[in-house]
Amino acid sequence: MTIQNHFPYVNNKMFAENVALHDIAEQVGTPFYCYSNTAIAENFQHYQQAFSDQEVLICYAIKANSNQAVLTTLAKLGSGADVVSEGEIRRARAAGISAAKIVYSGVAKSASEIEYALSEGIFQFNVESEPELKLISQIATRLEKVAAIAFRINPDVCANTHEKISTGKAENKFGVPISQAKIAYRRAAELPGIKVQGVDVHIGSQLTELAPFEEAYKRIAQLVTELKEDGHDIQVIDIGGGLGITYDNEVIPPKTHYAAIAKTQLGHLNCKIVIEPGRSLLGNAGILVSRVVFVKTGEERQFLILDAGMNDLVRPSMYEAHHEILAVNKANAAMKTYDVVGPVCETGDTFAKARSVNICQSGDLIAIMSSGAYGAVMASTYNTRMLAPEVMVKDNEYAIIRHRPSYEEVINADAVPNWV
Ligand code: LLP
Repeated sequence: MTIQNHFPYVNNKMFAENVALHDIAEQVGTPFYCYSNTAIAENFQHYQQAFSDQEVLICYAIKANSNQAVLTTLAKLGSGADVVSEGEIRRARAAGISAAKIVYSGVAKSASEIEYALSEGIFQFNVESEPELKLISQIATRLEKVAAIAFRINPDVCANTHEKISTGKAENKFGVPISQAKIAYRRAAELPGIKVQGVDVHIGSQLTELAPFEEAYKRIAQLVTELKEDGHDIQVIDIGGGLGITYDNEVIPPKTHYAAIAKTQLGHLNCKIVIEPGRSLLGNAGILVSRVVFVKTGEERQFLILDAGMNDLVRPSMYEAHHEILAVNKANAAMKTYDVVGPVCETGDTFAKARSVNICQSGDLIAIMSSGAYGAVMASTYNTRMLAPEVMVKDNEYAIIRHRPSYEEVINADAVPNWV
């Protein structure tokens, strides 16, 4: 069972902090995403506390959830941002995150994106290849700027996570192979417009054990030592994101243990540590609330058909991900086994198979838990279904932080050429 302290049951009805989900559903309609502001803040503060004895910059990986209200919450707590596009830089800046706290990752930064990042004066480019380095050097030289860089090193470590979100194996597209790192750094040091500043590593997402981090950091420590011997002034080690969350019954190591590993493996190098957590800040701080449209009895199974679908939350269909599915009103304690599915015209539009849920009727509210990260940001309008709105709750207040678009907004975004 997922532990989500900020979505408690009070008299058998689920709340977000001190607001009944029924009340939000009445006003906003379903489906909608709902985030606990307090949970987000606490998750961030737990990282701050865990790393309090190290020089650390926490750069929230904003791809996990880039709503401006989420970013503003974290910006006010002092967070920086790990970004992967110009759009994300713009979002971070709009939320008040200083450019001096932005690290820019990603395998395919375009020339115009690099130019924008340089004009903003971001803290660090996490460079993924030599062609990218050359492009950054050319653009920085033309603009008479200096780009502070780290290479993202692929340490060839198995993260023991889903293959679609594992990034640190030699076969993955990410980073510079550790075997080629020293040559890459030597070339970088010779290029104009480039300041070699750090080393970066990110081995994957939803890691549930510390051993792969430990192994990766060990390899990075060795590399940093050698780079320093070669005369490079390495001041920053970016250790990426990836600490998992409890979706089902995973036991996640405490953030203090994660921080201790960073300290043990890297502390002696006297570098500033950058961390890029995404999921572990937002995942358990958000849920997707949906209504049962029909309860359908098939030949072999009972289906709970929801008004949320794979277009709203793609993780179950894309990664076979488990999300807890809870009745918002569990006054009726009797349980039943359902296949929980969405309305989209694809068999893959399935949230859970053979799942035990409180007996439901058409119109009942369902909460799909742990949906705060990689939920709303990966949503689409497939089947011309409107993007689900997002709501943020803090104590007994709530606000719509992204509205549900109107059909007109969506249809009018298309243009019909006059020669059609
Ligand atoms: N840094 C880099 C360079 C990344 O690529 C990622 C995630 C992070 C940090 C944040 O990792 P986190 O702390 O969130 O694990 N859509 C997938 C997850 C994709 C992760 C991509 N990179 C999912 O829903 O599971």
